[in-house]
Amino acid sequence: MKNSHPKADEKKSARRIAVEIQNLSKRYKTLQALNHISFNVLEGDFFGFLGPNGAGKTTTISIITGLAHYQQGSVRVFGHDVTSDYRSARKMIGLVPQEFNFDPFLTAEQILTFEAGYFGVPRKEAKIRAEELLEEFDLIEYRTFDFRRLSGGLKRRLLIARALVHRPAILILDEPTAGLDLELRYRLWDFFRKINQSGTTIFLTTHYIEEAEKLCDRIGVIHKGHMVALDDKTKLIKQMSRDLIEIELDQSLTTVPQAFDEFGAELFQDGKFLRIREGSHSLSKLLKTIHAHGFEVLGVDIKRTTLEEVFLELTKKESGVH
Ligand SMILES: Nc1ncnc2c1ncn2[C@@H]1O[C@H](COP(=O)(O)OP(=O)(O)OP(=O)(O)O)[C@@H](O)[C@H]1O
Ligand SMILES: [Mg+2]
Repeated sequence: MKNSHPKADEKKSARRIAVEIQNLSKRYKTLQALNHISFNVLEGDFFGFLGPNGAGKTTTISIITGLAHYQQGSVRVFGHDVTSDYRSARKMIGLVPQEFNFDPFLTAEQILTFEAGYFGVPRKEAKIRAEELLEEFDLIEYRTFDFRRLSGGLKRRLLIARALVHRPAILILDEPTAGLDLELRYRLWDFFRKINQSGTTIFLTTHYIEEAEKLCDRIGVIHKGHMVALDDKTKLIKQMSRDLIEIELDQSLTTVPQAFDEFGAELFQDGKFLRIREGSHSLSKLLKTIHAHGFEVLGVDIKRTTLEEVFLELTKKESGVH
């Protein structure tokens, strides 16, 4: 199906590569944490990097941000090699780490201005930027609190504000909403959407698959250090689709009539329901067959595959794609 305007194509092809990972391998002593992983994140993407605990997500992020060494491969951020051109690469990135890593003796405001200074933002500008971010994240009244006095939710907001102080081209979020209440999570989702729409590339890891489903346009799945999927979210779901059609009949059956064999239909709930996997079968043909057998259809329910199901399917295997 043709779904894009020529202009949109033009814009797409002109997008730069924000993160380019080629054949990256990383070993911690005896543990092979990353195994020849390769993928790109394009400028403007809202990329979801998913994987179970210990899959290698934080390790990958540590390498992208120059915090960890690696044995093989190359990683570039907007064309800057993270090893040989570390400072230029790092400047492009705003990092929200998985763990809090603040100096506990600094106030919220100092945390923002010091970070700006670290990235070379002039002092006057840093103060203005800190003010904007304190405002944006509802932190004004906590500006003089030191880190230890902030609640978990406030710490998280400050962590995100700090990542944005030097106006990075890409924001890397390592489980940014873990442990937050729903209201704050939804507010942060709106915020992430807004900054992505205004041009900031986002690289998100999360355990809330719903978060990735709602926010991301592209998804990479890592499992035991191997990339096991990489695609547009909708394509990934479609490709692994196990959509089900459930049909409620007006009577209970004990066996599936032979005419339904070609649909791979099965019975459930005391034979009152027929279930088929959506695929090449046409729903209208199935309904006609049902009518031809003298049954009435009381209801039809289509259960769409969720990203959660795709994720579970991809990560249940013992090892990934080699
Ligand atoms: N500094 C380290 N030394 C040794 N092993 C490490 C180190 N950091 C991570 N690992 C191991 O590397 C593997 C990948 O860890 P990583 O933190 O990248 O996973 P993750 O995908 O971020 O998991 P989570 O979802 O739990 O945060 C795990 O087996 C972990 O135990
Ligand atoms: Mg992690």
